[in-house]
Amino acid sequence: MTALAMVAEFDDVAGWTADAVQILGERHAIPAACRGSASPAALAWLAEACELSPGMRLLDVGAGAGGPAAWAAERFGVRPILLEPMPTACRAASRMFGLPVIAADGRRIPLRTGSVDVAWCLGVLCTVQDKAAVLSEIHRVLTPGASLGLLVVVARGAEIHPAPDGNHFPTEQELVALLDDTGFELLEQIDQPNGAPLSWSRRAEQVAAVVATRHRSDPAYALAAHQGERFTHLFASGQIRLRAIHAVSRRPAGHTPKTRMEER
Ligand SMILES: C[S@@+](CC[C@H](N)C(=O)[O-])C[C@H]1O[C@@H](n2cnc3c(N)ncnc32)[C@H](O)[C@@H]1O
Repeated sequence: MTALAMVAEFDDVAGWTADAVQILGERHAIPAACRGSASPAALAWLAEACELSPGMRLLDVGAGAGGPAAWAAERFGVRPILLEPMPTACRAASRMFGLPVIAADGRRIPLRTGSVDVAWCLGVLCTVQDKAAVLSEIHRVLTPGASLGLLVVVARGAEIHPAPDGNHFPTEQELVALLDDTGFELLEQIDQPNGAPLSWSRRAEQVAAVVATRHRSDPAYALAAHQGERFTHLFASGQIRLRAIHAVSRRPAGHTPKTRMEER
């Protein structure tokens, strides 16, 4: 992922968002830092589907500025680990939420095999060319039978116009095959649950307004804004849509799950 527009969108904007949150106050942090998953309804659906509970180790792959993982920690008491390749986004997540962040690529996750209770990967797969490599790595680090929550922008057809730089949208059929090939059983998928309440979107908009005032003249701002406009057009014209997906890591044949006593 090298497209300049994506660095602007995922790295520069993440840093600017953390600066704006510092000005506006920390109650703005989560709504502003949920970038692939702006709706709390979508997060709640994923959290319930994955049966998040206090103390679980949640790996968020492509965590961005950390909003979804922070939301899950606040609402469900999970212990998140964020993994994100963009350095400024890593610092932004750490500044805003104080959560552990690993600066790494989802294709090579520096965690032990079978060491994670549940994983999320939200708004990430369409930005990655080798989706199978990311999903296989997530599968490796998950305990057998563990849940994976995904938000994926899928294409209705093969032709997308105008395609945002660096994005490769899978079709729904491709995504289903990809999950199967990488060792996941798809349990349920729905269109993204409906929009955010005003109390949430107002805070996100206030942060966006501060970022615009401070950085409008920066070429990176124009690039990120242009990406956003392309997405808006593609969603509005029905060429792409956001799917929320719950899958589980298939157990290898002959695997017997440990009892709680054995896990201790
Ligand atoms: C649309 S943002 C979503 C951020 C976050 N998941 C959220 O929902 O707010 C996509 C994120 O995927 C990250 N990403 C792109 N390629 C990646 C890869 N190969 N491995 C891990 N993360 C990646 C980007 O840096 C960016 O932060």
